[in-house]
Amino acid sequence: MKNFWLSLKPPIIALAPMAGYTDSAFRLLCRESGADVVYSEMISVDGLCHHNRKTLAMLKFNPKECPLVFQLFGTDPNKFATATRIINRIITSYQLPARHRKTTCPLMPEHSNGRRGLRGVASGPVTSYLGLDINFGCPAPKVAKNGAGAALMNELDKSYEIIKSVCANSRLPVSLKIRAGVKNISALEFIKKVKDLPWTAVMIHGRTLKQGFAGEIDYELIKKIKALVPDKIVLANGGLNSLEDAKNILTKTGADGLGLARGVIGNPWLLEEIKKNKIIPISDAIRRRIILHHAKLFLKDNPNLIPLRKHLVHYFKGQKNASELRQKIIHAATLIELKNIL
Ligand SMILES: Cc1cc2nc3c(=O)[nH]c(=O)nc-3n(C[C@H](O)[C@H](O)[C@H](O)COP(=O)(O)O)c2cc1C
Repeated sequence: MKNFWLSLKPPIIALAPMAGYTDSAFRLLCRESGADVVYSEMISVDGLCHHNRKTLAMLKFNPKECPLVFQLFGTDPNKFATATRIINRIITSYQLPARHRKTTCPLMPEHSNGRRGLRGVASGPVTSYLGLDINFGCPAPKVAKNGAGAALMNELDKSYEIIKSVCANSRLPVSLKIRAGVKNISALEFIKKVKDLPWTAVMIHGRTLKQGFAGEIDYELIKKIKALVPDKIVLANGGLNSLEDAKNILTKTGADGLGLARGVIGNPWLLEEIKKNKIIPISDAIRRRIILHHAKLFLKDNPNLIPLRKHLVHYFKGQKNASELRQKIIHAATLIELKNIL
C-alpha cells in the first residue's frame, strides 16, 4: 500500500492527537484550514480487540480528512497485532466497489465512495491516505496506570515488540508519538532502540513526562533525533501557539514538520498562517463563519452541540466580551441558538 507520508512536502503541518478534541469534525476543519495530515483521538487496542462499539466507531471518518492517522494505545504487543489486523480488515472493506460492501457496516466512512479527489493530495483509494500511530506519550492516569501511553516508553523491550508487531501486521504506514523522556528513558535512547524497525514517522512532544504540558521544549533533543534517523520523518510538537513559535522550532530542531495541539483549539486558522507563512487577520465575521462551519460539521455526527462546547469556548480567547460570550455559548445546543448568540 502507498505510504502517503512520503508524498507530503516539508514542513509537514500535522494536527496532533487530542483525546476529546480531534474528532472527525475538527479533523476536517483542520484539514480545510491547512493541516497536511490529521491524527485521531487515541483508540484503545483492548476496545478494538473486544469489538467495543464505541471504540470501533472511532474509526469512522470522512475521506476529506485524509491523510488521516489513527492513533492506538495499549500495553500488550499481541493485542496491538490483533487490533492492527482488525483495522486492516475494515480498511480493506473501504476499497471494495460499493456493491460488495455491507451497507449496514457501522464503520463505513459516510461520504466515501472509496475513490475520490482529496484536497491537497493526489486522488486515489482513500486507504492510501491512512496511517497508524502508536501512543508512547500520554500521561493521563487512566492510560498510564495500566502501563500504556507514556508509561510504555519506559519499557524499551515491550515498546520494541509493540512497534514490531504493528509494523509486521499493518497495511498502513506506522508512526510513533513519544515524549522527550519518561523517568529514566530519554527519547534519544528510545529511538536508538527502535530505529531499525520499519516505521515511517515520529512526532516528538519536546517535554518530559515530568514537565507534563508546560515548560520549555527540548529543541536540541529533537535535533539529535533527526540526525539519528535522517531517513525517518520527524515532527516537533509542544508549545506551538503562533507562526513565530512554528518558525522558531523548525529552525532550532531541523524537524521535517510540526505537530500542533492546543494552539489550534479555537484557533484553527493558525494552521493556515503557518502553511502560508503569514499572519491572517481574523475579523468577527470570519470568526463567526468558522464557528458556524465547525458546528455544522459537528452536527453531521452528533445530535446537538453540547459536547462541542469545550471547543466553542476557546473561539473567544482575547476577545473583549469573551467571558460574556462564553457564558452564553455553554447554553447553546442547536445551530439556531448558536447563530443567535453569535
Ligand atoms: C486535551 C488533550 C488531549 C490529548 N490527547 C492525546 C492523545 O490522545 N494522544 C497523544 O499522543 N497525545 C495527546 N495529547 C498530547 C498532544 O498531542 C500534544 O503532544 C501536547 O498537547 C503538547 O502540544 P501543545 O503544547 O501544542 O499542546 C493530548 C493533549 C491534550 C491537551
